[in-house]
Amino acid sequence: MRLLAAAVTTLALSFGAQAVMAAPIEIKFSHVVAENTPKGQMALKFRDLVKERLGDDKVVVEVFPNSQLFGDNKVLEAMLLGDVQMAAPALSKFQKYTDQLQVFDLPFLFKDMAAVERFQQGPEGQKLLDSLRKKGLVGLGYLHNGMKQLSASEPMRVPADASGKKFRIMTSDVLQAQFEAVDAVPLKKPFSEVFTLLQTKAIDGQENTWSNIYSKKFFEVQPYITESNHGVLDYLVVTSTEFWMSLDESVQTELKKALDEAIAYGNDIAGKKTEEDKQLIIESKRSEVVTLSDAERQQWVEAMKPVWKQFEDAIGADLIKAAEMSNQ
Ligand code: LMR
Repeated sequence: MRLLAAAVTTLALSFGAQAVMAAPIEIKFSHVVAENTPKGQMALKFRDLVKERLGDDKVVVEVFPNSQLFGDNKVLEAMLLGDVQMAAPALSKFQKYTDQLQVFDLPFLFKDMAAVERFQQGPEGQKLLDSLRKKGLVGLGYLHNGMKQLSASEPMRVPADASGKKFRIMTSDVLQAQFEAVDAVPLKKPFSEVFTLLQTKAIDGQENTWSNIYSKKFFEVQPYITESNHGVLDYLVVTSTEFWMSLDESVQTELKKALDEAIAYGNDIAGKKTEEDKQLIIESKRSEVVTLSDAERQQWVEAMKPVWKQFEDAIGADLIKAAEMSNQ
């Protein structure tokens, strides 16, 4: 009898303890690229730092790469519904939520990644982190990938080479206008479909960074890659305002600190991968890298320049000017 009473007491105590012990906060981090990319590595680093510093009993970060959980076009909607708590879509994928981030898509605006970094960390870039607030999203920080290159089934040396060719683009009207400016046919498609579209020759080409072209094997189905550096592919790490505001200030502070460190780590990888993955592609001999002469490159610049004017009202002339100034 006494044994039974003891067992009942133990059971009651453990139920009681469970009732007062709060369940850990769950952060699902969804993205579309491979793990061996700047974004893939940044997300894993963030998960590890949070585990180390806050512990599994407080916050659990789960990372879902390769569009496993949500593809490009769904992740932000899912975030607003509370089905995912963090993501880092390319800056080109926020058009539905703000016009301002489209500044990053303007062709030939930033001369290199150092200029992109200066703009992002300057006052205008920092203000843009808040440009999604009204739509229920918070920008927590920028992450680099790199400059975009143009891959295709034929060599792209001058704008006339792109005429009539179908290129996959991200969901951005600026990118659409950029390809229309050279008489090409842009198609907005999710990242997860690009390889198959290229392989089956449903499209002729696409634009992306060296690390995405390498990690998703686009170079195996694209015989030519023009080193155009014509635009930037960077990310905004986002969460929903509702989720972020539900956290204690101390948890917010720790998460932001871990994220900043993970971003610095990811940025470092982005810099290295740009060179390494380009080299691996060259060595594979599956794809030829086309280098443009200054005169050839200038033709692309001139053909695409009217896009800036086209989007000046939507983006804001001052913002474009500030971005341009970051080249100095
Ligand atoms: C793309 O869709 O090409 C990129 O946004 C993929 C990524 O997240 O790097």
